[in-house]
Amino acid sequence: MTAAQTRILELRAELDEHNYRYHVLDEPSIPDAEYDRLFHELKALEAAHPDLVTSDSPTQRVGSTALSAFTQVRHEMPMLSLGNAFEEADMREFDRRVVEGLDLPAGDLFGAGAEVQYSCEPKLDGLAVSLLYQDGVLVRGATRGDGTTGEDISVNVRTVRNIPLKLKGSGWPATLEVRGEVYMSKAGFERLNATQLEAGGKTFANPRNAAAGSLRQLDSKITASRPLEFCCYGLGQVSAEFADTHIGNLQQLKAWGLPISHELKLANGIAQCLDYYRDIGARRDALPYEIDGVVFKVNSLAAQRELGFRAREPRWAIAHKFPALEELTELLDVEFQVGRTGAVTPVARLKPVKVAGVTVANATLHNMDEVARLGLMIGDTVIIRRAGDVIPQVVQVVTERRPADARPVQIPECCPVCGSHVERTQLVKRSKGRETFSEGAVYRCVGRLACGAQLKQAIIHFVSRRAMDIEGLGEKSVEQLVDEGLVRSPADLYILRFEQIVGLEGFAELSSNNLLAAIADSKRPGLARFIYALGIPDVGEETAKVLARSLASLERVQQALPQVLTYLPDVGLEVAHEIHSFFEDAHNRAVIEQLLERGLQIQEQGELAAEFAASATLDGVIDKLNIPSVGPGGAKKLADKFGTLQGVIDADWLDMRQALPEKQAKAVRAFFDEPHHVALALSIEAQLKAFGMHWESEKKQVEGLPLAGQTWVLTGSLELMSRDVAKVKLESLGAKVAGSVSAKTHCVVAGPGAGSKLAKANELGLKVLDEAAFVAFLGQHNIAV
Ligand code: IVH
Repeated sequence: MTAAQTRILELRAELDEHNYRYHVLDEPSIPDAEYDRLFHELKALEAAHPDLVTSDSPTQRVGSTALSAFTQVRHEMPMLSLGNAFEEADMREFDRRVVEGLDLPAGDLFGAGAEVQYSCEPKLDGLAVSLLYQDGVLVRGATRGDGTTGEDISVNVRTVRNIPLKLKGSGWPATLEVRGEVYMSKAGFERLNATQLEAGGKTFANPRNAAAGSLRQLDSKITASRPLEFCCYGLGQVSAEFADTHIGNLQQLKAWGLPISHELKLANGIAQCLDYYRDIGARRDALPYEIDGVVFKVNSLAAQRELGFRAREPRWAIAHKFPALEELTELLDVEFQVGRTGAVTPVARLKPVKVAGVTVANATLHNMDEVARLGLMIGDTVIIRRAGDVIPQVVQVVTERRPADARPVQIPECCPVCGSHVERTQLVKRSKGRETFSEGAVYRCVGRLACGAQLKQAIIHFVSRRAMDIEGLGEKSVEQLVDEGLVRSPADLYILRFEQIVGLEGFAELSSNNLLAAIADSKRPGLARFIYALGIPDVGEETAKVLARSLASLERVQQALPQVLTYLPDVGLEVAHEIHSFFEDAHNRAVIEQLLERGLQIQEQGELAAEFAASATLDGVIDKLNIPSVGPGGAKKLADKFGTLQGVIDADWLDMRQALPEKQAKAVRAFFDEPHHVALALSIEAQLKAFGMHWESEKKQVEGLPLAGQTWVLTGSLELMSRDVAKVKLESLGAKVAGSVSAKTHCVVAGPGAGSKLAKANELGLKVLDEAAFVAFLGQHNIAV
């Protein structure tokens, strides 16, 4: 066998396999661009060796066998494909053939010649479908299949929202076969992949595969749930003609209720076609659907008939293709990058490849779950996709091309930057008072600001325009400051000295002074800016603003319990826990303290926002405790019945049963039998009150309580409970708790370290209790500590 023969056989086998995967399985394993290259290689070889052409060569057929699960449908008029033009020269050649074929005067040396009218449409990247209308009623939908025989997908096409089941208006031919593309919009594709990922289902590499996979579902309910759309671009069999031009046809179809392209245009001559190609090309990324080129068709139907067909392509139409968005390349290695929050992210290092005009050498792999989902190994041949301004992505592995020495991708045990341990994050699900843990997709370096990578990112974020807005500190400068050991935390920026900066790359005398001035200028940030600058995970500018506006002081933000934070608009329990644990962390606290010591003066409102103060209710607090089987309704009943949280905690069984059905009453009891639940409940309540929140139902209950009408003062520190909790306990007995001692004070509770208030109480001869006596007093009133 000659080399050419061998290669031809190889190419045919490979193309047959790809055809099958593309048309039958909807799971192509190589990008279209690669397919086209193989196809052209085969075509060129066959052209050079015509004796080797056989009728079963992929060049001699279009499409592929129909999937047997669907009934087969014969296309009375074959569904053809289009010739491709990649270069302007191919287009000029096409136009020349049209002019020649129509016997029109060709252009002379000065370019003047006949101008053919062409229709221009985008080439949607979906799959070709034929819709058959009998007397205006949709009776059949079919795929293209091999162009002669397709599959009956009538049930499925009926689920596509913009395909009319009945035509509008009147005057349509008794038999009307419409052809067009079923596709998925970019937004629909993103949404579908997101839901698939969440449900642990299969995701799609691109909108075309998603459309094909959705349309050829044996269960049409699945098709119905997918965001498919249809766009009509031509006719098949018709019992009567109704227009003289292609555009006329489409406009009439539109009047009958069929969707056609919004970008349909008429071009006079090839120059205007090229303008159209450039215009759509410039807008390609902004279009809501994916296109792989534009299609030009001779507009006059009479001219189309005259030109006819060559093999299985019309001589009157051509697809002018855009650069492919997907290409093949090799995965050389996977490296790990460390981000601001310590997330260790795998990044693909690729053999550089041009994708749609841009050389791509790196692609994000998101996380290790994604690596596993792709089944990626180092050395693999992969499909890279670069759509719009999105970062290039690895969408698929070509497993058939995996080399024998391919290596698995492994997450490093130690941080590649600082050597700290790398941990897998846990996902915490909180529901009904319970926390369940599962493994997260993200791995984190535990080094935090001791990790150079995290420190750099944290500083870059801290100084950024929307955060502390320190001008003159670009990424490069931050890297230098960190690498030189001059900055070990954001607080170190505020002790930088002129002689440390001057001489660093890019810092002369003036720029050093400017930087120091910018740092000094940033010392009075608003609270929202400061919170955002801290870089708390999941806290963007909006959340930072909400925190600042509602809580109005850094101290409250730092102290707020997660359940209290959930009173803020748009703050869910997950984010609330992130915020809380950020401020619980000793290291973070130390950095904040240092910032304040080094002269940062945070501008805060101080006064709790009125709407926030008014947002707490007792039933709301009970509801936030997430007592199993007690929903908002049960919480309301408890609040109404007992009036205070302490009342609910101390309630006897009979009272409890009056408020709630047995199962719920038992649940409440069991919940408060656990001391840490009591402590949590009281500290939430105490904090809400300390923040100045109160609720109506309490006031009503005060009369008749043992300490009604009394004013108490708490001073010194208490060991068995916080002062906030002591305050709530006193209030639950009806007392008012005041901040200063006067002749009207009924009793003072004084812990160790009490000073002037205790002295004044003694002076006035008031009743004073130490903590032990106070606890005993509470005990007499059945209040446990
Ligand atoms: S016309 C005889 N117009 O491209 C002409 N095709 O390579 C038949 N396509 O199978 C096709 N947009 O799936 C035509 N505006 C358009 C198109 C279009 C997308 C697809 C169609 C067809 C393939 C041809």
